Amino acid sequence: MPKFFITTAIDYPNGIPHIGHAYEKVLADVIARYRRLCGDEVFFLTGVDQHGQKMLQTAEQEGVNVATLARRNTRKFLALWEKLGVNFDGWAETTDQDHKVCVQKILTSLHQEGQLYKKAYKGFYSVRQEQYLTEKDRNENGEFGAEWGKVIELEEENWYFKLSEHADWLGKMVRSGKFAVLPEFRRSEVLNAIDRAGETDLCISRPKERLHWGIEFPFDPDFVTYVWFDALINYISFAGYLKEPGSDLPEFSQLWPANAHVIGKDILVPAHSIYWPCMLRAMGFSDEEMPTLLVHGWWNIKRTDENSDQEGDIEEKMSKSLGNVVDPDQLAERFGVDAVRYYLVRDIVTGKDSAFDMARLITLFNAELANDLGNLLNRSLNMTKRFLGGELVISGYDDEACSGVRESLSSSTDAFLSAMNNYDLPDALKALNAHVVHCNQFIERNPPFELRKDEAQADRVAAILFHLCESCAHLAVLLSPFLPSAAEKILHQLRAKEIAPSTIDSLQWGLLPPGHLTGKPKPVFPRILLDEDE
Ligand code: ME8
Ligand code: MG
Repeated sequence: MPKFFITTAIDYPNGIPHIGHAYEKVLADVIARYRRLCGDEVFFLTGVDQHGQKMLQTAEQEGVNVATLARRNTRKFLALWEKLGVNFDGWAETTDQDHKVCVQKILTSLHQEGQLYKKAYKGFYSVRQEQYLTEKDRNENGEFGAEWGKVIELEEENWYFKLSEHADWLGKMVRSGKFAVLPEFRRSEVLNAIDRAGETDLCISRPKERLHWGIEFPFDPDFVTYVWFDALINYISFAGYLKEPGSDLPEFSQLWPANAHVIGKDILVPAHSIYWPCMLRAMGFSDEEMPTLLVHGWWNIKRTDENSDQEGDIEEKMSKSLGNVVDPDQLAERFGVDAVRYYLVRDIVTGKDSAFDMARLITLFNAELANDLGNLLNRSLNMTKRFLGGELVISGYDDEACSGVRESLSSSTDAFLSAMNNYDLPDALKALNAHVVHCNQFIERNPPFELRKDEAQADRVAAILFHLCESCAHLAVLLSPFLPSAAEKILHQLRAKEIAPSTIDSLQWGLLPPGHLTGKPKPVFPRILLDEDE
């Protein structure tokens, strides 16, 4: 059985998870569930990036032990993923002992192979970004801009990774597409950054006296490694790379390379597209063993600034200091998990940015789920109950309208699959909605509640209801990666849970057999009412 390995960026547990984090995990979860539906064996890895300066600073400010803070915040992320139905197979915490051991083994062998060296360096350092700055980081006024936060001058010895040795190779890999970055338009960003990688090596250590909250260098205990040789390594350490005998981590050779390495655009360059592939190469990974990066865009905040004379809405970044961070936990409490999952992947083109908008969340849920799909299911089951006593019969009746329903389902399914295979989740959902709308129009044009008044139309009424219920069953299966619990409710009401195929190959017309008894309709997507409607 073909395997599919998905990893996402591990989140900083430094504060509350926001909708940007939630989007990434839901995106990956939908892909994971979809691949399973395609018959792939899937491993979905995610986790938290617990080390680093920011964690330490926060712990100091809050007067707690940094390990305690890491555990406390990690619990918040875990609880949120559970609430949102994010169903991962592997959980990466960088303070984990297995991870540390793996990192240290990698450092030791790279050191032995001459890929690491120690040198003194004096330069400007951004405390916020935890990195040294170069002349290129100065803005047009010759200053280090506000985005770098506090900048200090620092001189210290550190360990370096010979990044520059791999720059030519990387350029060839990216140009040839052997190291793939999706969507395609992101490739040029990577190519632009490669030149710079050829000029400098990568600092991978911090002296312990300045930062102890990292992983100790096995051959130089006064230093810890942080961020790159810590956080990035999670993608392989928790996939079983160099695991100890008897470990319960997965079999690395069965997983790697990652088919979808899901990250946000802000960490593409340089971390995941420059450092990471060069690190893998230095560790001995072949050209064929490079992961495929799937780079998503950014959720911003829609601001309606009354005093602005600019046309339209203004987008701004979510940030703690602006106090505009949207909490997905609260959203799920207020609108339900289905509404949040649906909105987060329906209203952003994979790879592009979008602006969070509560009104859109409500509109999309009410229109496409409550109105379109919810009504279709309700009417189909209600009429089957009332007109057929809940028993579907294959009447042998067929006409253009009925064959139109079958064609619509088949073309919606094709469009859905092709969009999903391109990670175009909004288009996949639009394709499903197109069939829902078709079915609702089919009811309007062939109203069973009118037709049934004529005895002679009984077979036609039975055929119409069969087409509707059968459609609902297919829609539930296709929608299941997005809204697993809603899909289950739909199948339950159709009494089709046992019949529903577990893979898409077996999703053929005629799921519901002759004589199939459907269940009672109960709203799956209750309309979201705003206070003023109530
Ligand atoms: O970057 N919209 O952690 P992080 C969409 N620990 N995605 C967003 C977002 C937003 N507004 N804000 C963040 C880190 N993300 C490091 C990664 S991995 C070796 C180290 C995404 O908590 C972001 O792009 O800042 C990243 O993919 C993920 O959330 C974690 O971000
Ligand atoms: Mg970040």
